[in-house]
This record gives sequence, structure tokens and C-alpha cells, in this order.
Amino acid sequence: MNQTTTDRRTFAIISHPDAGKTTLTEKLLLKGGAIHLAGEVKARGQARRARSDWMKIEQQRGISVTSSVMTFHRSYEGEGDLTFNLLDTPGHEDFSEDTYRTLTAVDSAIMVIDAAKGIEAQTRKLFEVCRLRDVPIITFVNKVDREGRDAFELMDEVADMLALDVCPMSWPAGMGGEFEGVYDLVTNQLHKPTGPSKEFEGDTSQHSGLDDPTLADRLSPRALERLREEAGLAQAAYPAFDIEAYRAGHLTPIFFGSALKQFGVEEVLGGIAHYAPPPRPQPSDDGEISAEGDEVTGFVFKIQANMDPQHRDRVAFMRMVSGTFKRGMKLTPSGLGKPIAIHSPILFFAQDREIADEARPGDIIGIPNHGTLRVGDTLSEKNVVRFTGLPNFAPEILRRVVLRDPTKTKQLRKALDDLSEEGVIQVFYPEIGAQWVIGVVGQLQLEVLISRLEAEYKVDAYLEQAPYDTARWLAGDAAKVEAFMAINKGSLAKDRDGDPVFLAKSAWDVGYQAERNPDVTFSATKER
Ligand code: G4P
Repeated sequence: MNQTTTDRRTFAIISHPDAGKTTLTEKLLLKGGAIHLAGEVKARGQARRARSDWMKIEQQRGISVTSSVMTFHRSYEGEGDLTFNLLDTPGHEDFSEDTYRTLTAVDSAIMVIDAAKGIEAQTRKLFEVCRLRDVPIITFVNKVDREGRDAFELMDEVADMLALDVCPMSWPAGMGGEFEGVYDLVTNQLHKPTGPSKEFEGDTSQHSGLDDPTLADRLSPRALERLREEAGLAQAAYPAFDIEAYRAGHLTPIFFGSALKQFGVEEVLGGIAHYAPPPRPQPSDDGEISAEGDEVTGFVFKIQANMDPQHRDRVAFMRMVSGTFKRGMKLTPSGLGKPIAIHSPILFFAQDREIADEARPGDIIGIPNHGTLRVGDTLSEKNVVRFTGLPNFAPEILRRVVLRDPTKTKQLRKALDDLSEEGVIQVFYPEIGAQWVIGVVGQLQLEVLISRLEAEYKVDAYLEQAPYDTARWLAGDAAKVEAFMAINKGSLAKDRDGDPVFLAKSAWDVGYQAERNPDVTFSATKER
């Protein structure tokens, strides 16, 4: 591979709210020299907590177009000048299918875990999405400056809950009140806090190994004894780092640190630089497409709509897979069939949105459009390949849509079809009954739906609780699927493509039916 296809690191951070994603993002951007934006991320974090009305959502969405992709540059020995593309995975109440879809556009991810809490629900969900495509994961156990759980317990939890091999890359010398620093097991360096704030400000010493006697000058006898014992045991008990196993998604290197106090941040970024894969080949209906290919290809993984009803423009986020994109180039979206000229693409640089002149594999381009581009579209020069592996994800919130004016049924159907194609919601048409069901993975999507129905389609509707909790696409032995459908008509629906969907009352219900119908597959994803 040549440098032009290996100098990109496109990654995301996955975590549960409050684990420290915003703080780590900020610190990574500082390391990459994008100080200005670091403040913005912080501001967004605060706005996000306070947000409650449309004004704020608009504001947030306005900002989040620029912070959706954060790009920064840094040189590393042996790697050259690298460009990092950090893709934001919206969390909190703006958690949505976009959060999942963003993970289809990255080559690797950092999983941030709170040392006091371990693997939490949202981390686990996001991890499962990464696993669908074997996205390699670097784990960052955050907040070691606070009282946390035992390091071994945390490592074992990652290994057991996620079925991954784990490999310690660093080890904390004490935690919480007894925190004295972090020992880097790769370089044998000890990083210590400085001053009253106990931050890492560059106080590093080089050692020959854990048994180096000079460590005694740096740590209290108690902390040193514990570090030697624990880190020694950890190195013996867990597999050594193996880059191939990591890149195949089987092993996760674990770094301990504190985003707030700047411990471990440098190491994690170094991990992305040295170990994370450069732009990976992407699966398509014509085999894998490598970043080395000459033809410009990419796929749309997210659409951001402008919330202002006066402006119907949208930004489609395209992940570049191959070729060198130049402004003004004509690309054909698979959903449209005829080429469009891309005159004013947005390339995301750390300081500002800038007009892109050139983008390469791994980069993200924002393409303003009026609804011509859909999530899952392939864009290419020759219009031959179609990228695969961009699934729909089973919704976690289901609601019935109720019209206030029953004469608007046709408009509602069109709106739901459009919005589901754009990727805002999923729509299900039950076999029995006239009320359509929509599904989302995040609460905010419901508000977006109602607002857009009103603003763009002049449809006055509201949402009602549905007696379902989740949905599963049915597949498998045709006769068995038919038989299942025949006796479960009350829980069946068709999605917008006419594919059969089981609307389940609970996760337990899914498990129960799956057990009783071993020849039927109840799938939580569907290839678009
Ligand atoms: P999120 O984006 O994953 O939701 O988490 P965020 O970075 O906003 O961090 C959540 C809280 O945890 C913040 O505190 C943040 O300061 C704190 N935090 C993050 N990393 C560390 C760490 O390494 N050590 C310690 N001790 N705390 C950490 P907050 O009080 O909720 O917010 P703020 O008022 O500081 O913004």
C-alpha cells in the first residue's frame, strides 16, 4: 500500500453516557492541535445536558454537523504524517440509528469504560454493532484517578461479556485516593501526576522493567509492591498483544488512564496510530473493494436534515472507500441511477467546515442535497458496485402513528416511506389492523418524526404506545417461516420493502419464539 491510502485513521469512540467520551474527545483533539474545537465539544456536551426544546435541538444539530467528523493531523515515527478522522457517535437522548450507522463507516473504535462501572448497556449495544463487521477495538478504562473496581475484575468483565481476548497495555499504580500513576507495559515508562490538580504534565521516567530498582524512587513502597504483583500477574495471565488478532476483532488491547487528568490519552492515540488499520476494504456485491482502487467510490452512512422547515436541504455523509475525490466531480448514487455533480462538498477540518478540494479513502465528505441521497446509497464514478454491510437495526422503541385528520392517509404513507428510506425511522405495516407502526432506536427520533411530518408533509399526527417492544426480521426455511407467520398473524408486519417482520412484546418473547422455532431466524439486522 502507498502512503496516500495508509495515512488515514478513521475511528469512533463507543461508550455509555458519562463514561468520559466527551472528555477523551477533547483531549485527543488537543493532542492533534485542534484546540479551538476542543472548546466546542465541551460546549456541546453542556448544551446537550440542558437541551429540552426545539431551539436547542436545532442549535445542537447545527453544531453537530461540524462536530460529526473531527479531523486532526499528527506525525508518528514509522507511520509518517497521519490524518485522524474521529466520527461522533451521538449518545444520550440523541442516541439513534445514526449512532449505529456511524460504526459502519469507521475502521476501528475506542471503547471507553468507566473504571467504577465496567461494561454498561449502551457500550455493549455499540460493541455488538462493531462486532457485525469485526471492527477492531482499543479499550480505555477511564477515571482511574477515582475509586474504581479492581483492574482484574474489569479486564475479566470485558473478556467475558464481550467474548474477546484482552491484553493489558498499561497498569494503574493504585486507584482513587491511592493513585500514583500509570505504568506503560509496552515502553516501561511510568507516568506520574503533578501538582495539586494531580494531572499528567509530562512527569515520565524510563525503566528497564517492573523489577527495575529505580522504580522505588518514584512510587511509595506499598504502591510499588502492588504494581509489581498485579502487573506481573496480568502480563502472565493474559495473552500478549497480537496486532493481527486485534485487527481481526478478536483481541482488545486495554489501556488504563484518566481522560480528565490526561493519563493514557497519548498512549491510546498512539495505539490508533500504530495498530489501528488504515482504510479497510469494504464489502460489496462485487467482492471487497480496496482503498487502492482508482475509481472513486463511497457510501452514505448518515443523513442530517436541516430542522428549519424553510430549508429543506440535507447533508449526506459519505465515507470514501477508494479513489481520490475532487470537487466538481460527477458521481452516480445507486438510488438515483444518474450522475450528480458534487460542487460544494463539505470536508470536515478541525477548525471549521471547509470546501473540500480533495478527499481520499477513509475521509468523510458532506454532500448537500435536497433529498436525492439516501442512507445506504453507494456513490461511484461508474455506477457498477454496491456496498453491502450497511444494515437496518432492529428498533428499540415502537409506536403507533395516529392521524388527527383521517383524510391524510395517503400523505402519511408517502411521508413514512420517504422518511424511512432516508433513514430517520423504520416503518412497519401490521398484517392485522390499520394503524402503522414506526420504530426507532432513540427517543429524539420520535420528535424529529412528528416535527418533520408537520413541517414537510403538512400531516398532523401523534404517536401512541404500541404493545410491542422490538422487531425481528424473519428468515430461514421458507415453509417454516410461512407456518410461523400463519399462526402469529397478530404479531406480524411488513417493512417498507414488504419483508416479514415479527413484532415482539419483549426480548424474552424473541428468545421464546426462537427456541420454539429453530428453523426460523429472528434477525436483529437487515441488509439495506
Ligand atoms: P460522556 O461524554 O461520555 O457522557 O462523558 P463526559 O466526558 O461528559 O464525562 C462525564 C463526567 O465524568 C464529567 O463530569 C467529566 O468531567 C467526568 N470525567 C471524565 N473523565 C474523567 C476522569 O478521567 N476522571 C474523573 N475523575 N472524572 C472524569 P461532570 O461533573 O458530569 O461534568 P463537567 O461538569 O465536568 O462537565
